[in-house]
Amino acid sequence: MDKGIKIAINTGGGDAPGLNAVIEAVVMAAYNRHWEVYGIKNGYAGLLDTDEIIHLTPDKVRHISNLGGTIIGTTNKGNPFKMPVTNMAGETGLRDVSDKVVENFKRLCFDCLIAVGGDGSIKIAYDFYKKGIPVICVPKTIDNDLGATVITFGFDTAVSIATEAIDRLHSTAKSHDRVMVVEVMGRSAGWIALNSGLSGAADVILIPEIPFDINRVCEHIMAGELRGQRYAIVVVAEGAVPAGGTFIDKGMGEIGRQEVVLGGVGEFVAKKIAEKTGKDTRSLVLGHLQRGGSPTTFDRLISLRFGAAAVRMVEAKNFGTMVSLEPPEMKAVPLEDVIGNIKHVPIESDSIKTAREIGISFGD
Ligand code: F6P
Repeated sequence: MDKGIKIAINTGGGDAPGLNAVIEAVVMAAYNRHWEVYGIKNGYAGLLDTDEIIHLTPDKVRHISNLGGTIIGTTNKGNPFKMPVTNMAGETGLRDVSDKVVENFKRLCFDCLIAVGGDGSIKIAYDFYKKGIPVICVPKTIDNDLGATVITFGFDTAVSIATEAIDRLHSTAKSHDRVMVVEVMGRSAGWIALNSGLSGAADVILIPEIPFDINRVCEHIMAGELRGQRYAIVVVAEGAVPAGGTFIDKGMGEIGRQEVVLGGVGEFVAKKIAEKTGKDTRSLVLGHLQRGGSPTTFDRLISLRFGAAAVRMVEAKNFGTMVSLEPPEMKAVPLEDVIGNIKHVPIESDSIKTAREIGISFGD
């Protein structure tokens, strides 16, 4: 039995239901091997200001697997290779402070880092691996857009919340003979929109993988009208694009953020539908409701399994890898195969075929 292994764990990027379950499993699986786990607060901030490190003992993680968020905090603007810093004149720029992170990691005698995150966080973890930190990643994102694993944790919860919202929209849309347009998250992948739209009996689902023609969307709604269905539900992925156009964004948001903030396509689609069909139309953005609160049983379970598997990979010294769910097993995949390997909805997939066969339009 290895003695005295000291694991550091951080959570990076947008939060996702299941993060605390991963932490619980890592801490308990390590504790039962007589190892120690330390939580690095807010991504890598805790390795810059080391007061932000918490010794995670079993009492601190007892049954947190049902809690949303992350007890060690997260950030999507804390890349130490491009850290926002403000100088004496009050000007803010980006600086590489990664050496400081490595120095503190070594000074504190950590043996490895378990980095829980999506594509962006895994890329940062890989850069630290190349700088000598033994890293193991755990795939987190509600978007389910990582190609190197069958599923990421957080996705099932996001889909459940979106489906419940769509279910609720049916009655209000029907009562008012309205078109309700609901924008869901997912970045450049349509997984949340597709799975929730299909489960929630949407009339139209717009996803980034299938550029839409607004005229086709309106024709589909009006065809329903002719059959006597006077209301419609349109589910739009935040990254959906009109044919020949581009996605709608709100700019870069806070300084230090690596990706644009998507959003606005639901409102755009609703306006066009109202103009072209004359139907009373409303839009809503589901937003961060999809990320908040308790994980589903499925997400809890895979998060616990991801966490325990990560500790097994520490034991096997299988660094520079990510835990991947390849049912029924958890496997290790090299980080090189994870980075930039974004999983989009295959347009010939069975779910797309099913949706089309039951009369759902993708606006194409
Ligand atoms: O990647 C997860 C995600 O929730 C995306 O679906 C969404 O575009 C983004 O994060 C939102 O980020 P923020 O929390 O910074 O608004």
